[in-house]
Amino acid sequence: MRMENQRTLPRHIAIIMDGNGRWAERHALGRIAGHKRGAKSVKIAVKTCREIGIQYLTLYAFSVENWSRPREEVDALMGLLEKYLRAELQEMIKNNIRLMVIGDIETLPSPVRKILTESMDKTAGNNGMVLNLALSYGGRDEIVDAVRKIMQDRENGKIDLRHITKEVFSRYLHTANIPDPDLLIRTSGEYRLSNFLLWQTAYTEFYFTDVLWPDFRRKHLMAAIADYQRRERRFGLISNQVQKD
Ligand code: IPE
Ligand code: IPE
Ligand code: MG
Repeated sequence: MRMENQRTLPRHIAIIMDGNGRWAERHALGRIAGHKRGAKSVKIAVKTCREIGIQYLTLYAFSVENWSRPREEVDALMGLLEKYLRAELQEMIKNNIRLMVIGDIETLPSPVRKILTESMDKTAGNNGMVLNLALSYGGRDEIVDAVRKIMQDRENGKIDLRHITKEVFSRYLHTANIPDPDLLIRTSGEYRLSNFLLWQTAYTEFYFTDVLWPDFRRKHLMAAIADYQRRERRFGLISNQVQKD
């Protein structure tokens, strides 16, 4: 199925999948049950984006700050992540989806790292859509990382101070080769970035919904996209200067 208005379809959607804990609480369940339910919403979001022709989908699945949650919750999230990746690999291959990851992968438990590497390798040639998972991700950490890499390259004579531009800097981020998000969705009625894609969201359109992540369905995603399509992105210009499509 194609969207009516292909021209203004966001090329890259990023989602802060929030509200699993509160969903569980409302259903008198433990937080982990909320995360389990959240996995179903992930599958629906991936399927929908692939079907309507979104080129990049970035999902904030685990922040660098989330490591400080209670040990049982962190362990359960890592277990669910591993299970999700194992279950979805064939689906990604079948649907021509390429898996990518941003964040500090080295800090993830080795079974998760293993299946991630395998999935990235096996889907590397796919070009239907990029599914980009933010795992152990922090926007500030990513920027500091980029500075370190640039300094290293300078020490090795690979880059000169004069050559550091916004474009060059972007290529040192974890999202090198991924365009900036056009639309960022956050569920659960929170109005903040929580250290997500700080550099990349400079001109992203934001969409907030009270729906909790485990309740997020295709119709909610379509509503977010429809809202995006009604907006005028001016990038600092005045309305008359903006190319209408
Ligand atoms: C989002 O849901 C999932 C992760 C952060 C891993 P939360 O677990 O943050 O749910 P709330 O915000 O406590 O409801
Ligand atoms: C952001 O949600 C991280 C993810 C969705 C993975 P949090 O629930 O961790 O964010 P805060 O703590 O409410 O800002
Ligand atoms: Mg939360």
